[in-house]
Amino acid sequence: MNEMLEFLKFCYEDLDGENKKVCFLYGALFLEDSNIFVDYLVECWKAEGFLHSVDEFRDACDRGHNILDNLIKVSLLEKSAVKRHVRMNRVLCSMALKISSEVSDHNILARPCEGLKQSPKEEEWTSARQISLMDNDLCSLPAISNCTNLSTLLLQRNNNLMMIPESFFLSMQRLRVLDLHVTAITSLPPSLPCLTHLRALYLNSYKGLIELSSSLEALVHLEVLDIRHTGIIALPIQIGRLIQMRCLRMSLSNLDTTNPMSKVISSISSLEELMIDVDPNTSWSDQVMKTITEEVSALTRLTSLTFFFPKVECLAIFFSIGIYNSVKYHILDYFEYQLCKCLKYANDEGTHPMISEVLTKTEVFELIDHRNILNLSEFGTENLSELRACSVEGCKDIRCIIDGDVAPPHAFKCLERMVIKNASSLHSIWKGPMTVGSLGRMTSLTLFNCPELKKIFSNGLIKQLSELKHLSVEVCHKIEEIIIKIENHCLDPRTLPSLKKLVLHDLPNLRSIALNDLLIWPSLERLDIASCPSLLKPPFTSINAINLKSIDAEQSWWSTLVCQDDAIKERLRSFL
Ligand SMILES: *[C@@H]1O[C@H](CO)[C@@H](O)[C@H](O)[C@H]1NC(C)=O
Ligand SMILES: *[C@@H]1O[C@H](CO)[C@@H](O)[C@H](O)[C@H]1NC(C)=O
Ligand SMILES: *[C@@H]1O[C@H](CO)[C@@H](O)[C@H](O)[C@H]1NC(C)=O
Ligand SMILES: *[C@@H]1O[C@H](CO)[C@@H](O)[C@H](O)[C@H]1NC(C)=O
Ligand SMILES: *[C@@H]1O[C@H](CO)[C@@H](O)[C@H](O)[C@H]1NC(C)=O
Ligand SMILES: *[C@@H]1O[C@H](CO)[C@@H](O)[C@H](O)[C@H]1NC(C)=O
Repeated sequence: MNEMLEFLKFCYEDLDGENKKVCFLYGALFLEDSNIFVDYLVECWKAEGFLHSVDEFRDACDRGHNILDNLIKVSLLEKSAVKRHVRMNRVLCSMALKISSEVSDHNILARPCEGLKQSPKEEEWTSARQISLMDNDLCSLPAISNCTNLSTLLLQRNNNLMMIPESFFLSMQRLRVLDLHVTAITSLPPSLPCLTHLRALYLNSYKGLIELSSSLEALVHLEVLDIRHTGIIALPIQIGRLIQMRCLRMSLSNLDTTNPMSKVISSISSLEELMIDVDPNTSWSDQVMKTITEEVSALTRLTSLTFFFPKVECLAIFFSIGIYNSVKYHILDYFEYQLCKCLKYANDEGTHPMISEVLTKTEVFELIDHRNILNLSEFGTENLSELRACSVEGCKDIRCIIDGDVAPPHAFKCLERMVIKNASSLHSIWKGPMTVGSLGRMTSLTLFNCPELKKIFSNGLIKQLSELKHLSVEVCHKIEEIIIKIENHCLDPRTLPSLKKLVLHDLPNLRSIALNDLLIWPSLERLDIASCPSLLKPPFTSINAINLKSIDAEQSWWSTLVCQDDAIKERLRSFL
């Protein structure tokens, strides 16, 4: 273990730049092997001043994500199985704590998730630079009189923590990150204005917190404020004086919608990110909607907006205001690609010029439970040319995705990833003539529960897919052949040259993957197959698929398999 620690310590010491080191040490505040949300981690780093100050909040966050990637690359952090989360391994956590205890003013007091009922002694607080007591059972906090070096205090999810002593923050002038989310704190103490260096304040998710003190205005450096799902019903107007405010997360219920003239949101002119969470049960009056959209459109530095538009007409108001003022707005959400322009459009029908217009600038498009369109081309194929990822889910009328008759050359030229799920009428992906250069960058295609789909690669589509790495076909009961014989005769043996992983699940009528054994499958590494009882012959010979590494299949299927000769079956067995 000691040798291992020495090696890991070497990785740490080898990090270029002091900021990467402190970013790594910060990870020790979280419970070992727990999932840490990367955006939160980066925000804390930013608030701590680890990312150097740059003008734009988003640029700083980009820098933070680069450091994160770097730490993952050198194995000091791990990617978690949960998207957009990382973990810190137990050994690394204790190493970070050990290192921080050796560096004079980097003391970390980390006792997350230990079932603590009593807070640690005041001496421990006094010497600490960062404190994490998250996920404990604290009911109260000690009166701390000497805590001048503390810069991060994480108390989230102490569900019974109800009160903060009046003078608690008096000696914490250097505090930069304060997290009190999911506690039972109903009000902030009178010493709050002492936190003049505070950058990030998390108060979200306790309905009992009903007032945001007007002394908030003393927090002159505040950049991030999260008050979602609290009982706060009116943002104090003083918030507009916080000229460093970059990111505000709130719920619609935090807005005093009876007083539309207050114009609080539009007064926070430095905002770059705004999230307004809406309880789907709330009904909005058109007036409220109009007021909010107008306020939002006055925020000229906004780069990220997460918002719920109940009707497409509301989006229209919003968007046309944006154009009218000739300021760009990005309808943003985080899907999978970082910092992408994303539009999630659900439960509507037909087309709408406003949607087509927004789509011209959209990179990630999710269309969900949409009715009365036969194909995606109805939004205008020319309007979909920026899409990098597209997901169509539960759209029962859609018969094909792209209508080749109206598609320009190089249609979907940026599309990397397509997901189609629960499309009960889908007959094909591409219908009509194939146009040159279309779908040329597609790397991943997923089809799930398309009961009418018979042909995946119709009309020469397969020839376009030279970049396709991942193909997944599941629960498509009419599919008999993956590569259809009659439409794809004289195929180049190097068809699907990049395909690495092929997943075939629950295809009861699938008889063949490809017409003959001529295909080379030069990149294929993994075949994952389940519930395909009619598929008796795999498309492999003793010389093709030279990169095959694994076949995941059921034993029963394997035993019914017919191969040309035993040597092939023997070869395949080695991958099983
Ligand atoms: C705070 O940090 C400084 C060094 O930056 C150190 O000299 C001082 O003793 C620390 N204060 C406490 C209370 O530990
Ligand atoms: C705070 O604690 C440090 C270290 O124990 C000590 O040197 C310093 O005098 C104390 N300051 C106050 C105001 O009590
Ligand atoms: C919305 O209302 C329904 C029915 O009244 C209720 O079951 C659901 O929990 C509510 N949702 C929220 C987010 O409050
Ligand atoms: C493409 O979008 C523009 C608006 O930007 C719209 O006028 C046009 O009708 C759209 N094309 C289709 C086919 O809907
Ligand atoms: C898709 O269909 C499956 C099975 O019918 C259902 O369980 C699932 O919730 C559906 N998903 C969506 C997104 O509609
Ligand atoms: C696509 O939808 C349009 C509008 O409904 C329709 O006219 C066209 O025939 C459809 N194309 C295909 C191939 O289904």
